[in-house]
Amino acid sequence: MTYRTEQCGAFTTEHIGREAIASGWTARRRDHGGLVFIDLRDRSGVVQLVIDPEHAPEAHAIAQSVRVESVLRATGTVVARSTGTTNASLATGAIEILVDRLEELAPSEPLPFQLDDVGVDEVLRIRHRALDLRRDAMQETQRIRTMTTRLIRRYLEDRGFWELETPILTKSTPEGARDFIVPARLSPGSVYALPQSPQLFKQLYMMSGFERYYQIARCFRDEAQRADRQLEFTQLDLEMSFVTRDEILDLTEGLYCAIWRELIGVDLPRPFPRITHAEAMLRYGSDKPDLRYGLEIADVSDLVRESSFGVFKGAIDNGGVVRALACPGAAVLTRRELDALIEFAKEWGGQGLAYLLLDESGEVRSPIAKFLSPTEIAGIIAATGAAPGDAVFLAADSAGAVVRVLGALRPHLAARFDLADAGAWAMLFVVDFPLFGWDETEQRWVAEHHMFTAPRAEHEDRIESDPGSVLSEAYDFVVNGSEIASGSLRINRPDLQERVFRTVGFSDEEAEDRFGFLLRALRYGAPPHGGIAPGIDRTVMLLVGTESIRDVIAFPKISGGFDPLTDAPSPATSEQWRDLGLKPPPPPSTTETPA
Ligand code: AMO
Ligand code: AMP
Repeated sequence: MTYRTEQCGAFTTEHIGREAIASGWTARRRDHGGLVFIDLRDRSGVVQLVIDPEHAPEAHAIAQSVRVESVLRATGTVVARSTGTTNASLATGAIEILVDRLEELAPSEPLPFQLDDVGVDEVLRIRHRALDLRRDAMQETQRIRTMTTRLIRRYLEDRGFWELETPILTKSTPEGARDFIVPARLSPGSVYALPQSPQLFKQLYMMSGFERYYQIARCFRDEAQRADRQLEFTQLDLEMSFVTRDEILDLTEGLYCAIWRELIGVDLPRPFPRITHAEAMLRYGSDKPDLRYGLEIADVSDLVRESSFGVFKGAIDNGGVVRALACPGAAVLTRRELDALIEFAKEWGGQGLAYLLLDESGEVRSPIAKFLSPTEIAGIIAATGAAPGDAVFLAADSAGAVVRVLGALRPHLAARFDLADAGAWAMLFVVDFPLFGWDETEQRWVAEHHMFTAPRAEHEDRIESDPGSVLSEAYDFVVNGSEIASGSLRINRPDLQERVFRTVGFSDEEAEDRFGFLLRALRYGAPPHGGIAPGIDRTVMLLVGTESIRDVIAFPKISGGFDPLTDAPSPATSEQWRDLGLKPPPPPSTTETPA
């Protein structure tokens, strides 16, 4: 048999004259009265079929009635397209298949939406995901995703990492979110927890002597979903023994350079900047600053310490700060827009927002100008680097509130004035995070990264006396203002781990009960170790340029944790409740209970 079977997109002029078989979906059908043309599509692309009623009457009868998205198999001859009908924008645009025989392998019903319609309701799209995933953009996203994990595996295998598995049904591995729990039928009243990450198991692998571990791992966190957060998501989880922080950061940097180069043809400049957490908060008001634009925050407290503007002087007298940032081109903002920015500052917990507008002649316009001396104004302009046409925004408050307000204002203004270059990449590592943060609602210290993160050795002796001042060996990898990865060097001594547990409020009994398995392993020779976990979903979001994590997950959940595809979660049956020894919750009452 001389038939040549190819993927649709792989037919070329080299095949001209050959007998061919092509299978795929009906992407488009055009009936020219006589000839019928069908674009046949599979993962690789499309090829044009020509069905001529004179040449193949049976095939023509099928082609006339076939609906889009029906699955076909065509047998025929590859021919050159006649001059004037070639399509240079299509890989197969110089040829077509003159069909002898057409089989409709699976007809499609009329579609709930057209694949090229970009305005379709997302719930409907997810409900018919097998259809939705046939769109070119969705196919491309999944291609990038599979290429990304393939490259990761190759990169790490080349460097001596072993891909090792960790359990899904396990005990809580706390990362700060709520656990998903699974009732254990064989132990009524007891539950497994789904892993929030493989954190403790990858540490146990280090204690087991495996030295270099990685896994493309599914993680589960019962927390509010957002544009970049799903209940279940995927991490590249990795861990190394006898390693320094910089070795882990260098490895991550090399990996991301390889991904960007191979998948989107971008050569990222190395090394990626590394800035401390304290510096990030001071200069950008965020632990994940977007460095595609400036808008750097300057502390002007010293300049306005004796100001006659009561708001500034008052804040400083109360132990607070005054900080400012200049926004290029923002002198054009209208009164209404400026008022909206003041409201924005209040929504972020500020008391207000002061501003100076520098018009093109360098003249300063501001409701507070009359309270500021020329020296103060000149000092603020110099500190922020403001130029004619810019606006300077100032916040006066406690340092925490000022960081919050200006940290939120930075990306807000950058979006309003379109300051981030399309196509720009700003990667950085933020290092030296504090070990603990104070939780106002719970009135206790909590781990800033997680409880297994090592303190900086020189700060260890302050854990009990001054927890807030202890820096950790944690780091984040940030791209264009989004947190892509987190990691740390870990605690490898049981006494130190116990001190951290105590500081975050565990009694020794609770710590033993919840983390006995970790403490036991730490007692028998745990190597120094550390690792990092980049989010795969967020990485693919960057590579394909989408703002929604649901675009890069084939089968995502929508708000409320609902899956419109399968209708999960669904009510348990009475047998399931009985098997688990549980009672279903009472139905939500709709009527008043009688008195
Ligand atoms: P962390 O909790 O910071 O660290 O998570 C690491 C990375 O995982 C991604 N990520 C998410 N992606 C989508 N949806 C979510 N709900 C979600 N939560 C986290 C982010 C984040 O940077 N075990 C530690 C890592 C370590 O210490 O090695 C951990 O899980 O990209
Ligand atoms: P007021 O004196 O309250 O009328 O405020 C005068 C200007 O100062 C307004 O633009 C306020 O938004 C601004 N302002 C008030 N409180 C603060 C603050 N804590 N930091 C910065 N600006 C403020």
